[in-house]
Amino acid sequence: MATERISRPGLEGVVVAETRLSSVDGEAGELIIGGFPLEALAHRATFEETVYLLWHGALPDVRQLTAFRRDLAGRRSCAPEILRVLEAAARKKIPAMDALRMAASMLTLETHAEHAPEDDRAAGLKLVAVFPTIVAAYARLLAGTEPIAARADLGHTANYLYMLFGTVPGPERVRALETYLNTVVDHGLNASTFAARVIIATQSDLISAIVGAVGALKGPLHGGAPGPALDMVFEIAEKDRAETVLRQKIERGERFMGFGHRVYRVRDPRADVLAEAAERLYATAADMKLYQLARHVEEVILRLLEEYKPGRKLQTNVEFYTALLLHGLELPTDLFTPTFAVSRVAGWVAHCFEQQKQNRLIRPDSEYVGEKNRRWVAAEERQ
Ligand SMILES: CC(C)(COP(=O)(O)OP(=O)(O)OC[C@H]1O[C@@H](n2cnc3c(N)ncnc32)[C@H](O)[C@@H]1OP(=O)(O)O)[C@@H](O)C(=O)NCCC(=O)NCCS
Repeated sequence: MATERISRPGLEGVVVAETRLSSVDGEAGELIIGGFPLEALAHRATFEETVYLLWHGALPDVRQLTAFRRDLAGRRSCAPEILRVLEAAARKKIPAMDALRMAASMLTLETHAEHAPEDDRAAGLKLVAVFPTIVAAYARLLAGTEPIAARADLGHTANYLYMLFGTVPGPERVRALETYLNTVVDHGLNASTFAARVIIATQSDLISAIVGAVGALKGPLHGGAPGPALDMVFEIAEKDRAETVLRQKIERGERFMGFGHRVYRVRDPRADVLAEAAERLYATAADMKLYQLARHVEEVILRLLEEYKPGRKLQTNVEFYTALLLHGLELPTDLFTPTFAVSRVAGWVAHCFEQQKQNRLIRPDSEYVGEKNRRWVAAEERQ
């Protein structure tokens, strides 16, 4: 029987996989991660617990968690060859996502013996464990300072902050970043996750799948929006300039970064979780000015979107408060998307494992709209 052909550019609404990892309900504004509503999980779990949940389908008990933390902590170091490539990239001021992509592809040096599907779990652990090391090392090299070696006695999140700043972070900072990492770890079949599943479905290896996903995440329509979102808030600088600056932007046809979503037609639930975490973090630092400015900018943008794009249901997405939260943690803007990758890599790996269990090659169709029956003309006779 011939397969029915449906033309759907962008594949909106086309279901190509079954998953137990996360559920995104764009109409209700609900996100479920491993069976938990985001709001129940994000501010409670350590990142290691969330990763375990996604990979094993249940939260770990104390013994399982201890073993899992040890497995990850033991894989944090970065091979010297990778550090040399990062040094070369930093000399050329290559953007951090490109450096991460290059370094990720070099992980084959360390996981070569782990290419057989049964060894993919070890490769998955390595990827999740070493992404923070790569990102932190590169951030320091870009800033002209030496990378800091990982500390196995710290949790995944605390160690990332330690490798970035060289001091053991306080519990508020760890909690804020942990909440962020839990919030963005997985999100249905977004573009980078889809890219990873497409690659692993060809029976390729985990490193290849994750390198493809990093490339997909880099684009401004996916994970590249929080930097520009923060730039916009800084450009506005004062509450009473917001309306004028933002109106000019939308009249020039610019998009507001951190707003709109392919799936959510109501407010992205991740925006609320992160806004709350940001509020707590800024309150600890006793400086609410930027937080309050961002809240005001959000209000004005939502009003302008309703005025200029009526009926499009454009709401705040995850990126707007990501920017505010990560800035509150003193991360430079160019580390926002790589920090997203530090979390999402665990989701990508989980999807690859899931795809491997129920694999079917992913191969959509295309509609040919080009010419047919062209006449061949020799090169010297072509006009
Ligand atoms: C995320 C995004 C790519 C989803 O796009 P999409 O579902 O393909 O939506 P469309 O591109 O079809 O946009 C529909 C309409 O809304 C407008 N629109 C969408 N997002 C907008 C935004 N952030 N600011 C202003 N207008 C926006 C489009 O210009 C379009 O208007 P038109 O019909 O008058 O041409 C889009 O909302 C966007 O570019 N947002 C900004 C980038 C961002 O925050 N990305 C992070 C996503 S988590």
